[in-house]
Amino acid sequence: MLVTRTVADFRAWRASASGTLGLVPTMGYLHEGHLSLVRAAKRDNARTAVTIFVNPTQFAPNEDLARYPRDEARDLVLLESDGVDAVFAPSPDEMYRPDASTFVSVEKLTDRLEGASRPTHFRGVTTIVLKLFQIAQPDRAYFGRKDAQQLAVIRRMVRDLNVPVEVVGLPIVREPDGLAMSSRNVNLTPEQRRAALVLSKSLRLAESLFAAGQRDAEEIRASMRSLLAAEPLAVLDYISVADASSLDELTTVDRPALVSLAARFGATRLIDNTTLDP
Ligand code: PAJ
Repeated sequence: MLVTRTVADFRAWRASASGTLGLVPTMGYLHEGHLSLVRAAKRDNARTAVTIFVNPTQFAPNEDLARYPRDEARDLVLLESDGVDAVFAPSPDEMYRPDASTFVSVEKLTDRLEGASRPTHFRGVTTIVLKLFQIAQPDRAYFGRKDAQQLAVIRRMVRDLNVPVEVVGLPIVREPDGLAMSSRNVNLTPEQRRAALVLSKSLRLAESLFAAGQRDAEEIRASMRSLLAAEPLAVLDYISVADASSLDELTTVDRPALVSLAARFGATRLIDNTTLDP
């Protein structure tokens, strides 16, 4: 497995690698969610590359950039054993010139949910993802539905800017007790870790209400909200039942819906989601 640090070296590898390339962009501290993307990329393509880059432009100054967990040595062992061909792990200086002044912004889809709480977040995500696509020139790129809005925003960018990459979205990988895997879970205390189960529990509640015939979106939000309110360690940011493609809030669940939520457990902010399909 080749580990590259510079754009020039990664490009040189890409130019020499024959056949289709599957790219898995990550911020490292890998878990089974990331590795599920790697395995899908391996299955579909002749070559697989993973990027590890904690992208500073998607963190606001008050966010957890410095606290973001990192363990590159461990990540490389996992990727090597999964048969990845190349890893691109650049430094921030390699990716951003001090006078960088070009950014990619997807409008409207990014002004709600995660974007409402983190106004500059998606601009950082779309800018780095387009840069990685330009550098790696993959045939396919793999993203998790764990970050459902991110996936929708990247699909929209690729469509709107005619980027020649097939975006593949894959299911959320969970811990046995239901907590969605996340690099940030390591920052939870044991009490917060237990409390964080309220996220997946409230999504299961939404699914069961929907299965029992509930179509009133506000009723679903209200039931989830009271479950969240019963967990003192959870500080709710938002609960949403939205049209799965426009992300507009729904009154009635009469079309595919994304049910999503975000909450803080101490300093750790977690997100989770599910879809309802009438
Ligand atoms: P990161 O949080 O490291 O996630 C990398 C990819 O793994 C994303 O596509 C994310 O949706 C997916 N992923 C994370 N947890 C998952 C889980 N439990 N199940 C399935 N997939 C999961 O998302 C980012 O990094 C960054 O924003 C990035 C796209 C790399 C741009 O910097």
